[in-house]
Amino acid sequence: MSGSKQVVAAEFDPDGRMELIVAGEQPGHGAAVDFRRVTLRGISSQPLVRACGERGRLLDATAGLGGDTWILAAAGFSVTAIERSSLVYQVLRDGVDRAKADLRLATIASRIELRRENAVDVLQSNSDSWATIYLDPMYPPKPGSALAPKPIRLVRDAVGDDLDSSNLFLAAVAAKCARIVVKRPHHAEPLCANPDIVFNSKLVRYDVYVREGSSLRAFRERANL
Ligand SMILES: C[S@@+](CC[C@H](N)C(=O)[O-])C[C@H]1O[C@@H](n2cnc3c(N)ncnc32)[C@H](O)[C@@H]1O
Repeated sequence: MSGSKQVVAAEFDPDGRMELIVAGEQPGHGAAVDFRRVTLRGISSQPLVRACGERGRLLDATAGLGGDTWILAAAGFSVTAIERSSLVYQVLRDGVDRAKADLRLATIASRIELRRENAVDVLQSNSDSWATIYLDPMYPPKPGSALAPKPIRLVRDAVGDDLDSSNLFLAAVAAKCARIVVKRPHHAEPLCANPDIVFNSKLVRYDVYVREGSSLRAFRERANL
């Protein structure tokens, strides 16, 4: 079922982990967050980590099921992770709490502060500052492309497409951080033209905008920021 949207719920699987699952499906067939499975070998050379620059305070404004949050925390960033969907947040909260209670994962998990909010509100509140803001909004799949992995399909069914991602980008620019990183599929237009640096991986690219780069200067002039 690739085209139609399914009703998604957050429920416990037989191992007591919260999972995102198609309503009515047998428990255990959804997507739980389990950071024990993430391979961290060669992490510093991953395009995501290189794109995010110097280790420091980072806002992951679109946490989802926390895959990127975990890699960034494991690489040494201090991550504030924001998720606005209640369903997705519950599943991620459960995964982060289990990691905090696991001696092998607790050090990495301690670098993550997870909040259920709209990141636009967080960015507009001006109460905090980050060196890097990372954005990975949902993007409509390319027609005819291969079926996305189940966790991605479940998140998409739970939250839809993030059609307001340009507002999020605007709020990120107004927050005056040193660097904004946007993950995009290769076929998608950049959120803002002419990124200063692009890091490519097999499936996606990371568009990097630095505060004093020409692209953001032009954007700020247009947006009167
Ligand atoms: C593509 S997923 C992110 C995947 C994530 N990077 C990962 O590694 O699992 C996009 C997520 O961002 C969330 N999101 C989009 N806009 C948001 C906003 N303004 N504030 C908070 N969360 C947002 C959506 O609810 C969705 O869960």
